[in-house]
Amino acid sequence: MKALILSGGKGTRLRPLTYSGAKQLVPVANKPVLFYCIDNIAGAGIKEVGIIISPETGQEIKDAVGDGSRWGVQVEHIIQETPGGLAHAIKTARTFLADSPFVMYLGDNLIGDDINRFIDEFNNKRPDALILLKEVDDPRQFGVAEVSKDGKVVRLVEKPEVPPSNLALVGIYIFSAKIHRAIDRIKPSKRGELEITDAVQRLIETGGRVESFIIDSWWLDTGKKDDILSANAVVLDEWLKGDIKGKVDKQSRVLGRVSIGKGSVIKASTVRGPVVIGENTLIEDSFIGPHSSIGDNVKIARSSVEHSVIMSESELTDIERMDECLIGRRVRVSKNSRHKALKLMLGDDSVVEV
Ligand code: G1P
Repeated sequence: MKALILSGGKGTRLRPLTYSGAKQLVPVANKPVLFYCIDNIAGAGIKEVGIIISPETGQEIKDAVGDGSRWGVQVEHIIQETPGGLAHAIKTARTFLADSPFVMYLGDNLIGDDINRFIDEFNNKRPDALILLKEVDDPRQFGVAEVSKDGKVVRLVEKPEVPPSNLALVGIYIFSAKIHRAIDRIKPSKRGELEITDAVQRLIETGGRVESFIIDSWWLDTGKKDDILSANAVVLDEWLKGDIKGKVDKQSRVLGRVSIGKGSVIKASTVRGPVVIGENTLIEDSFIGPHSSIGDNVKIARSSVEHSVIMSESELTDIERMDECLIGRRVRVSKNSRHKALKLMLGDDSVVEV
């Protein structure tokens, strides 16, 4: 079994963060989303991992992941020159995949489950494809499956206006080599992409066996700001281990599960977990509330932060209350002396609510 992680695309829904970086490297609980995918794949014992990268953000992904030795896997970075869709990405990786069965994992998807059990299911039943499904409130923004009473996948449609069910396609699939023939037979969709949903539908139409697995763990597609914040909250709730390597002075209180990296200092502040704070960060006269992730080399003074992600090297000074904020790298937010005047310098596509 091989794995193919899709880590290309433009990340338009996460601008402006994605002007300067890949969406798959946006941190959730101070770790890039993509690293959770690699953890899950390595944990399933898969050794050969292909990562699809784009010309724009590929180098950054290569620098972050390297050759995969950190996870005990061999990573091959495969460049997809144009964002031609998920099935196009598989086409691009044809030489790497050869005739092996493989797990395809979208690099911005996070699930609360190990993929081991899905691989076992695939190995036991030997279908041509195994898809994961999850009941969602609004299926129109996903691929949607129609499943018969006995669990057979009858039909798949990509982002339908009238969904046949509330079962969305999770961005993790297991395929046999038969998927390649199905991909060769599909045409680009309305959005001009070769859709994996259409390829699996093709597989069904040509007599292929497609099994489904409805997952009951959480699933998050981290493509938008609110999704990142939800993913951050869920990961901190479920996976964070308390671990204090930095210094906490006598005037400070650290409550609940909190992780503080080495070199960080907490002065006259309260930190109420679950919270993760990176390395060499300074928190002074502040309150850091639940579900916050603060990166490395951050400075927070006389401020209050809750349910937010603050990335490395940013500075917050005299901010009464920051809630549900997603702050990139090297951002400075401070209160100016002239009350009620906003002095802003924001990049393209920034969002400010005051
Ligand atoms: C893609 C797939 C869709 C799937 C989703 C999961 O959508 O096309 O079928 O439900 O990933 O994250 P996209 O992210 O390309 O809009």
